[in-house]
Amino acid sequence: DRSIKIAPSILSADFANFGAEIRAIEAQGADWVHVDVMDGHFVPNLTFGPPAVAAFRPHVTTVMDVHLMIAPVDPYIAAFAEAGADIITAHVEAGPHAHRTMQAIRAHGVKAGVALNPGTPVEAVDYLLDMVDMVCVMTVNPGFGGQKFIHSQIEKVRRLRAMIGDRPIHIEIDGGVTVDTAPLVVAAGADVLVAGSAVFKGGSVDNPMPYGDNIRAI
Ligand code: DX5
Ligand code: ZN
Repeated sequence: DRSIKIAPSILSADFANFGAEIRAIEAQGADWVHVDVMDGHFVPNLTFGPPAVAAFRPHVTTVMDVHLMIAPVDPYIAAFAEAGADIITAHVEAGPHAHRTMQAIRAHGVKAGVALNPGTPVEAVDYLLDMVDMVCVMTVNPGFGGQKFIHSQIEKVRRLRAMIGDRPIHIEIDGGVTVDTAPLVVAAGADVLVAGSAVFKGGSVDNPMPYGDNIRAI
């Protein structure tokens, strides 16, 4: 279904070849490019800071979707906006002031997303829905690629879609998206699917065709 956007996560790319990997996934049909920022504190892994994200920017011709798994998050919003993010998603669990965080993202002229960990009830974003462009439902506990999809989150997606009503808000799914799990979340109301291992498996910058096959299969 081509109204569904596929956002490959470069967490599963070759870390020595980000520019080429981004160009390869876009050439193979990626709709967005998903960038996972981890701080070793909010999640038990470390990835990229603002200078790396700024270096990715010129290679992205679609949408650079920056997922911040960091706490505190507010002190870094300006830097990720200046690095060229099109969408910045922050976690509702990242601090006591998610409302202020969403205001700060939009004040920089960037689209705002709010993410929910698997254990967080959907009601946590109720009073944020009038100030976001996207809600990201984590279908794994964030920190690593290649984990198993948590099926209890399908019900959360369904409830979120009903809460959103006719507001123009994307529902993004992040974690464990495969050819088997993608149809389940799309049926529940999701329209943006992040996929790391399921997109990059079997391919490389020298052999990028599997990326396209994997994207089309999802
Ligand atoms: C997990 C990240 C995801 C991850 C998805 O903390 O936010 O974006 O890269 O990887 P897969 O698709 O392999 O579960
Ligand atoms: Zn992510």
